[in-house]
Amino acid sequence: MSEIYYPNKELFKDAAIKSMDEYRALVQKAEEDYEGFWGDFAKEKIDWFKPFTKILNEENAPFYKWFEDGQLNVAYQCVDRHLKTRKNKAAIIFEGDNGDQRVLTYRELFYEVNKTANMFKNKFNIQKGDRVVLYMPMIPEAAISMLACAKIGAIHSVVFGGFSAEALRDRIIDAEAKLVVTADGAYRKGKPYMLKTVVDEALSQGCESVKAVCVVERNGENIHWEAGRDYAFNELIKNESVVCEPEAVEAEHPLFLLYTSGSTGKPKGVQHSSAGYILWAQMTMEWVFDIKENDTYWCTADVGWITGHTYIVYGPLAAGATTVMFEGVPTYPDAGRCWRMVEEYQINQFYTAPTAIRLLHKTGANEPAKYDLSSLRILGTVGEPIDPAAWKWYYEEVGGSRCSIVDTYWQTETGGHVISPLPGATPIKPGCATFPLPGIKAEIIDEDGTPTPVGEKGFACITKPWPSMIRTIWGDPERFVKSYFGDCKKDGKPVYFTGDGAMIDEDGYITITGRTDDVINVSGHRMGTAEVEAAIKKHENVAAVAVVGKPHDIKGEGIFAYVVLKSVPSEERDGTANMLETMKEINMIIKAEIGAIALCDDMAFVPDLPKTRSGKIMRRILRSLVKGEKITQDTSTLEDPSIVGIIEDLLSKK
Ligand code: WT7
Repeated sequence: MSEIYYPNKELFKDAAIKSMDEYRALVQKAEEDYEGFWGDFAKEKIDWFKPFTKILNEENAPFYKWFEDGQLNVAYQCVDRHLKTRKNKAAIIFEGDNGDQRVLTYRELFYEVNKTANMFKNKFNIQKGDRVVLYMPMIPEAAISMLACAKIGAIHSVVFGGFSAEALRDRIIDAEAKLVVTADGAYRKGKPYMLKTVVDEALSQGCESVKAVCVVERNGENIHWEAGRDYAFNELIKNESVVCEPEAVEAEHPLFLLYTSGSTGKPKGVQHSSAGYILWAQMTMEWVFDIKENDTYWCTADVGWITGHTYIVYGPLAAGATTVMFEGVPTYPDAGRCWRMVEEYQINQFYTAPTAIRLLHKTGANEPAKYDLSSLRILGTVGEPIDPAAWKWYYEEVGGSRCSIVDTYWQTETGGHVISPLPGATPIKPGCATFPLPGIKAEIIDEDGTPTPVGEKGFACITKPWPSMIRTIWGDPERFVKSYFGDCKKDGKPVYFTGDGAMIDEDGYITITGRTDDVINVSGHRMGTAEVEAAIKKHENVAAVAVVGKPHDIKGEGIFAYVVLKSVPSEERDGTANMLETMKEINMIIKAEIGAIALCDDMAFVPDLPKTRSGKIMRRILRSLVKGEKITQDTSTLEDPSIVGIIEDLLSKK
């Protein structure tokens, strides 16, 4: 049994949920009156333009509707309503890669959002329901543009700045976006990098829906300018009024799309709602991050991922908090950057990914000791299971053995945390996401809904709809039903399956064991094997390919490809210079098709792949082989069982 760490009660005297008894009381309330539980919070937390009368509509399950006859505006919820009590409070504290700083109070943010919203409406004719793609660096204009969309009821789709032109184009086309907002570029590790060039390339083919590109100036580098299509954000905004009426939208009006990888096919446009999403974003800020009026909160994610949406922009601002936004990377100019910022801004909650913790541990184990980190109360992690060594360092060296660690388990589709410790209540076990949050019916079950016995792996499911859940996949409702409600049932009814395996221990603690599908978790981000394979197949000499995850010191999982070439001259069979050349070429294709985040760490050129007689690639065998595990699977059903030994042999020579 693992060690248990109890919350430091001194730090959490005023926590929203102060004890396990309070936690259990809330869980009980949700058990007894599920709709009442959510209805009460929705009334209390959201400033409705028109109050709702219906709480949950399950008629068209799994297309659930929450608070459907209510009306609100998410930008109003995040900014406007705070002017009464917090107009001069810092809303966003920005720190650039080079250390430049910019603070936006709620009042200033209100003006910027309004001007931007007016610009979208007046200059680009963006109407309620129109899609706007944001391809942005980590600068305040990213958050401002998201909120400006929300203000006028436009639907944003933020595309992570590390995605390639090809990936950006796919997302623009799928969403039929009318406007792309981008920047010339930004700074990373002291040097400028470019985004606009990627947008130019994306738009060079088949993006007819795009009428304009609005470009923020950040690094001032030279860019190509297409008259009649490209517009200068910084110039246009000067003429816009600071007054903009928020558009009242229905509770279920889509707030945004965010594309994420699945096990098959192209990325899916996960569609989120307005009311349910913002309600849970705000509530989890209060419960999991115990956000208080004078706190300064920092989440190091990028706005291009769901963590950036919910826990840099929407959650903190809905809660009226001060949120720090950082353009740079944690290791520049040195591995003390984050801790220097914690000291400088007196950060109270720090939220990052295990991959960053491992990197900082490895490259700067003694850095935290050089700074005053005594302001910290809560340390968060997200994206993948955290290993004991990283956990211990985070807890002791960063948190001074004083802070609560919240290992928050959730996904793009859940909108916000679903399984997580409560910092003032939950005794924590390292590497363990602990318990479902009140109102979230997370269960570890088999396909038929039977709870998995203690210590055995089961499926992590959420067996009741919850307000911040995914509403559909943009343009593909069938895929939505199939992807999330096709695998597990409870009481004969399909329930939401996360795609993750999990285990429950004798104390009821939940440990997430990782994906059960063909999705690789690279540095806490999902990568679909099918997507990477599709890119690799574009190489003219590739006959077949299978991609699997391979344990990696920093990334958690790296990408490993088994490649079958069409023609291999015999003298080159054993991984010589020509193979390295092919590897480079393949990675160049991946970079162009998806982006650097999907690059293969390693490849093996093999004569064939282990396939069943019906042609199905046995990935489980390939996963075991790359880990150097003994093959326990039955190989007699393979078309050619000898291939396993051949690959094993090849890998041992690498
Ligand atoms: C997948 C979701 C949620 C924002 C970051 C990634 C894995 C997430 C944890 C955790 C173990 C975790 C799961 C999940 N994951 N948090 N605390 N412990 N695994 O969002 O790209 O939608 O990926 O990340 O496998 O399904 P995402």
